[in-house]
Amino acid sequence: MVKKKLIYLDNAATSFPKPEQVYQKMDHCMRNIGANPGRSGHRMAIKADEMVYNTRETIKKLFNISNSENIIFTSNATIALNLGIKGVLQKGDEVISSSIEHNSVFRPLMQLIKKGVRVKFIPCSEDGFLDPDDVEKAVTDKTKLIIVNHASNVTGNITPIKEIGKIAKRSGAIFFIDAAQTAGNISIDVKRDYIDMLACSGHKSLLGPQGTGILYVRPGIELNTIIEGGTGSSSESENQPELLPDKLESGTLNTVGIVGLGAGVDFILKTGLDKIRNRKVFLTIKLLKGLENLNGIKIYGPGDAGKIVPIVSFNINSIDPSEVGYLLDERFGIMTRVGLHCSPLAHKTIGSFPKGTVRVSLGYFNTEGDIDYLINSLKNILKTKA
Ligand code: ALA
Repeated sequence: MVKKKLIYLDNAATSFPKPEQVYQKMDHCMRNIGANPGRSGHRMAIKADEMVYNTRETIKKLFNISNSENIIFTSNATIALNLGIKGVLQKGDEVISSSIEHNSVFRPLMQLIKKGVRVKFIPCSEDGFLDPDDVEKAVTDKTKLIIVNHASNVTGNITPIKEIGKIAKRSGAIFFIDAAQTAGNISIDVKRDYIDMLACSGHKSLLGPQGTGILYVRPGIELNTIIEGGTGSSSESENQPELLPDKLESGTLNTVGIVGLGAGVDFILKTGLDKIRNRKVFLTIKLLKGLENLNGIKIYGPGDAGKIVPIVSFNINSIDPSEVGYLLDERFGIMTRVGLHCSPLAHKTIGSFPKGTVRVSLGYFNTEGDIDYLINSLKNILKTKA
């Protein structure tokens, strides 16, 4: 039997492979440091604390954050989003969000609606674009929070956050972005883009391991806690410390994961975000061209590599997306993600609900050959199934 190539095209779910230094740093940390940061005062604990601190400092550079203590480590973007959303909102508050949100924003908001929070989900266009003018029209003096997806995990469509950030600033609302699909993919500057809070995963385009996520909270924003516990600080007090990051970081940190995340972000800074972005745009142009030449294909989103992160959703003919995904994996060793991508709202917006789409998401380490192989494999599926 011919050995299948394995082609990973599911980087929006989690990036693979990671840069070599991520594996090496994590291995070193696990074998040689291994102590609990910020707890015991011995040399290994101090070293572990230093490594965690170094990752905060590295992330600070990527997003132009002033103080690294405003960076909270979480275990994923969902936890970061929940800490932020539930830390800000109370009964009677008004929130603006959009119709392309992932369930990690949609579900916490739906839960809060039951507790008396009012939410306006602004409809996006059929290609998944959120128009800042529509946000502006929806803002009132009661708007406490504007939370939007920086790029859809279904269409890849990039939201003009700077424009929306300006609207939030003018109205006095807190501006919170879900950067799960943009952090490490495109430039984010919390000052330039008027960002008050940012949540993202560490294991997608930031190239760290699973089990890592980040919440940034601008100085001056006081979040209520939804988790309290040991922080290694102010242990004499019965109350949660007020200072960040401790206030929002109870319990032992994922030190090995955080070290891996630091190595991933360090790779991005050293390689250069522009170089990474250009490479991904180049690959996305090739992917879009290849897909467009197939018979009976429907591509969702703007179909313009400059307007999206490297995520492309499509369907071919009337073949069920789950069957296409199965055949790509089973026959050709190509890994994509099919279905609703935990974003039913986005699929309703683009008209692909309830079956969803086949989603290809590229990473920095994909090659032109991977895309040629995907397109040829899809041609083969079309020939045998159409
Ligand atoms: N949210 C991730 C995705 O889009 C898991 O696949």
